[in-house]
This record gives sequence, structure tokens and C-alpha cells, in this order.
Amino acid sequence: MCGIVGYIGDKNAYPIIINGLKRLEYRGYDSAGIAILDDTVKTYKCKGKVADLEKFVADKDISGNIGMGHTRWATHGEPNDENAHPQVSQNGYFTVIHNGIIENYSRLKKRLKDRGYKFVSETDTEVLANLIEYIYLKGKVTAEIAVRLALTKVIGAYGLVISCKDEKDKLIAARKGSPLVIGVGKGEYFLASDATPIVEYTNSVIYLNDDDVAILKKDELILKTVHNDRLTPKVQKVDLEIGEIDKNGFDHFMLKEIFEQPRAINDTFRGRISADNTLVHLGGLFNVIPQLLAAKRIIIIGCGTSWHAGLVGEYLFEDLARIPVEVEYASEFRYRNPIIHKEDVIIAISQSGETADTLAAIKLAKNAGATVLGICNVVGSSIPRYTDAGVYTHAGPEIGVASTKAFTAQVTVLTMMALVLAEKKNTISDKERKRLIKELVNIPKTIDKILKNSEEYKKIAELYKDSENFLYLGRGYFFPVALEGALKLKEISYIHAEGYPAAEMKHGPIALIDKNMPVVVIATKDGSYEKIVSNIQEVKARNGKVIALVTEGDTIIKNLADHVIEVPQNDAALAPLATVIPLQLLSYYIAVMRGCNVDQPRNLAKSVTVE
Ligand code: G6P
Repeated sequence: MCGIVGYIGDKNAYPIIINGLKRLEYRGYDSAGIAILDDTVKTYKCKGKVADLEKFVADKDISGNIGMGHTRWATHGEPNDENAHPQVSQNGYFTVIHNGIIENYSRLKKRLKDRGYKFVSETDTEVLANLIEYIYLKGKVTAEIAVRLALTKVIGAYGLVISCKDEKDKLIAARKGSPLVIGVGKGEYFLASDATPIVEYTNSVIYLNDDDVAILKKDELILKTVHNDRLTPKVQKVDLEIGEIDKNGFDHFMLKEIFEQPRAINDTFRGRISADNTLVHLGGLFNVIPQLLAAKRIIIIGCGTSWHAGLVGEYLFEDLARIPVEVEYASEFRYRNPIIHKEDVIIAISQSGETADTLAAIKLAKNAGATVLGICNVVGSSIPRYTDAGVYTHAGPEIGVASTKAFTAQVTVLTMMALVLAEKKNTISDKERKRLIKELVNIPKTIDKILKNSEEYKKIAELYKDSENFLYLGRGYFFPVALEGALKLKEISYIHAEGYPAAEMKHGPIALIDKNMPVVVIATKDGSYEKIVSNIQEVKARNGKVIALVTEGDTIIKNLADHVIEVPQNDAALAPLATVIPLQLLSYYIAVMRGCNVDQPRNLAKSVTVE
């Protein structure tokens, strides 16, 4: 989950690479480095963010038209100057940047050490650089052959950009498991982990597949497999505006993305709901409707926030379409010998489309013969390419590490899927279905209204910003919302927070409640209202501080809770989309007030491409 950028052409490589790294910094930000190929290969790297790298190279020679850059999220070796990429082979022949993990690196390292290689870093990438160099010098082969041969000896995942000091007119790129995109310009090529650093130069891209190796000169691209079979590059158009990946006047990407949710949800259902709001049509599922209707159960897999969206999906599919659902952490599912039937439908949810555990779980399910669907945000990413069918969320690029608009867009897709199945299975009345569709179409307006209250959330944030713990409670559809609210807070403010089904509070968490414990309760009238009122009373009886999300005009909870946040009334099935918004904003403001780096929280990365 590092970010990779490369350039080869006639322009100055440095500004292209450094700007690209800034766009990819959400993928990792503990160290950064660049290599510029000129008469020599100039490599600069340091611990810290891309801005630190910029300062570091301020007085250095960075001229040249070919180069590569890397922003790192440490896997092997702590973040320091030595472990930063590029990694250079012992005799300086090869310069490598890498995203992924070489799993058999210690065995390879030992063999190289036996042959006299010394290592300056703790990285698996340096092992690869030295392995390539060893094959190159020993076999007297070209750089490309050395790279391909080395890759056949490697077990693990990689997105790579490599240069050889004897062949300074080219870059070699390779992919297995970790994403890599080539941007095709006129007399120039760009390389990046995703398309965001590329779109300001060209919208023609080639997504590399696993085992692809690309040999790039400024006016030539050769694509082959690692086993030397020639491939025809498939150039695709990427539909991404540069404005979509800027902050557009917001202080942080996260805030911008929270405020983009009405648009993101609208874009996600636009064209998929009939003009008279009576029918949902999901073109991406057309070919798998029979499997969905015959499914004895649906298994939803995902990680982090996507897993929370999956939990909302469970309520939706069971409630509206009467299909049994299991929701699984991809990382648990794949390692526990799960029972998968051919009649099962697996739905993998992933913003990035690259999460390694989710991808591995998909492969497992496919091998077991199940139908596998994807709900992803990044077009052309790996998961949509491995699944049988799927539906894209149209949230646009999500840069803030804490996921916000991707979540609501995922829930929007799940709602539409449940409505399609409910229609086909006749599990809810036409009237009910049409009412829900209408409510879904209205959700962007509801969220607009909620977003207007941000001053209120700021006031609450101010009061509780120094708390050490938070509890989030919700029932039914609001239990996943409680989990997501807690996750947002811990991710960006480093406050310990837990989400619980409200009724479970009695079975443990209630012991934590005292006057210092803020408890956020989702208590809108669209859920199990009376029961949640009792839960609030239980908290108050123990002097806890209650911040309650209530339906506009609620008077009962107003008298019980310390603070209320009002949201418009919705059907419970749609309400997660609205109720999560104040929780996102509360976390955001608390994190800002605590001086945390909201867009780049410590230890996290946006896209987890390691297992
Ligand atoms: C990381 C991110 C989370 C995200 C999770 C799953 O942990 O920090 O925000 O929810 O990965 O990512 P995915 O791209 O599969 O949705």
C-alpha cells in the first residue's frame, strides 16, 4: 500500500513525480523518495512525508526527463531513510520502487548473502533489486530479461518500477497483486498506482494485469508477460476530472468528501432509477439475476468501513428481499476454510478495489464455484476485474484515509440491489418499494439539510474533544452506523471508541459508564424507538453523557439526553445514509480540535494491499 509514480518523456520528470506522489500520499506517508535518470541515476529519499522529501531535495540536482517516485507505508523495516524507496542494488545497476510484499524475501536474501551481497536496508525490495542485479551480471542478459527472471523467483505481491543504469532510456514496470496504471501521452508515458496522478496529463490509460511486464521508452511501449509472451496493450479512457482530486477550498479532503455525499449518492443512483422513481435497474447485475434469485444465501465480504456497509446490506437483503445473509471480514473468511456452495452469491465490497484480503477471499469463493459480485469505487481496479459482475459506486476519488462518501455510496448500491431483488421476488409490495425508491432519491436533500447543521456538531465536539473513550450505540440498521461512527472517531482522533448494539450494552460495556463517558446513541424514530429510550435511561442512571441522534421534533429524548442532534425522519432502511453524516462530522471536528492529521492519520493507509 505504497504509492508509485513514474515518468518517461521530454518534460522535467521531477515536478510530475512529486505532484503525483502528493496525490498518492493517502496510500502511505511514512517515507518518500525519488530517482531521476540523467547522465547518472540521482536518488534522494528520506523519512517523513512528501513535503519532507521536497525540502530535502530543494538544493539538489533534480534535472532529468525520466524518473520514479515512491511514498511508503512500511511493511518490512521501520520508516527511516535506509528503508525508504527507491532501493538501489549493491553495485548501483538497478533502482527499484515497490508496492507490495515479497514473501520469500528472507530465503532469497540468504542466498544472495551467501553470494557476497550485503544489505543496507531491512526491506524486501532491496532483496529484489539485488536479485535482479545478480541475475543481470551473472547471466549477462538485458535488464528486461533479468527483471523477468527475477520475478519468476519471487513469491508475493508487487507493483514495481525499475531502471537500469546501463539502459537509462527505459523504465520497466511490473505488476502482480498490487495495482499499476500506465498513462499514455504523446511521446511520453506515466506510471502510477492509480490514475489520479495521471489524469492531469492524459486520460488514456492501460491497467496492468497480474504477471504483466511493461518496457517503456518515451515513444515505445512493449507489454509482455513475465514469461515473455507478447501482449497487446488495451488502452482505456479514464473518466476523472482533475477538480475531483483537489480539495476545492475545504481544509481537508475528508471534509470535502463528507460534503460531497449528496452528489456522490446522487451519482450512484443516477441512471439506475427510472424517471418516475418506480424501478431500479442495475445493468451490471443483468447477467447474474438468475443466480441472485436462486441464491440460498448471500455472503458479503469486506474490510473496515466496507465491512460496515456490508452489515447494513445484511439488514437490507434480509428485510426487503428475504435472502439470508452472512457478513464476513475478508481476512477471517479466507483463512478459516469456509463452507461455500455453488448456489451462494458472494458480494465483495471495497472502495479501492485493491484490498488484498478481499481480493484473496474473492479468489477463494470463485474457486469454490460461487457467483462473485463486486461493489467498488475505483474503476478498473483489481476486484471488479476478478468478479463475475458488479456495480460501481460513483462516489468519485476518495482521498481522505477515513472513508466517508464511499460508505454512503456503497450503502446506496446495496439498497438498490435489495430493491431490485425485492421486486423480482415479490417480497415487498409495489407501493412499499416505490415509497422506498422515492425516499432514496430524496436522501441527497436530507443529507444537504444535515450538513447545514455543522456548527452544532462543532459545539459538541468542543465539549468532548478531550474525552479518552466514547461508546456508540444503535439497534437494527443503526448498529452498523454505531460501529462506523466509532471507527471514524478512533481512526482520525485516536480516541478509544467502541460501537455496540444498544441492547448488548447491558452485557458488559455498561460497566464502563460513568460521568466521563460520552455515549452517542442513534435514537431516531425509525428504529426500535421505545427500546432505545430505555437504553438512554440506563446510561443516564449511571451518569453517562448522552449525545443522541433523534428525529426532528423529538421531545422525549430531548428531556433525557445531554445533547441532541436532529435529523429528518426516514424509513429505517434508508436511515443509515442520513444518520452516519453527523457522526462523520463529529469525528472530523474532534480530530481537528485535537490537532490530528485528519487526512493522513498515523499508522493507517487508504488502500491495504498487504495481507
Ligand atoms: C483501510 C482503510 C479503510 C477502508 C479499508 C477497506 O483500512 O483505511 O478506510 O475501509 O481499508 O478498504 P477498501 O478499499 O477495501 O474499501
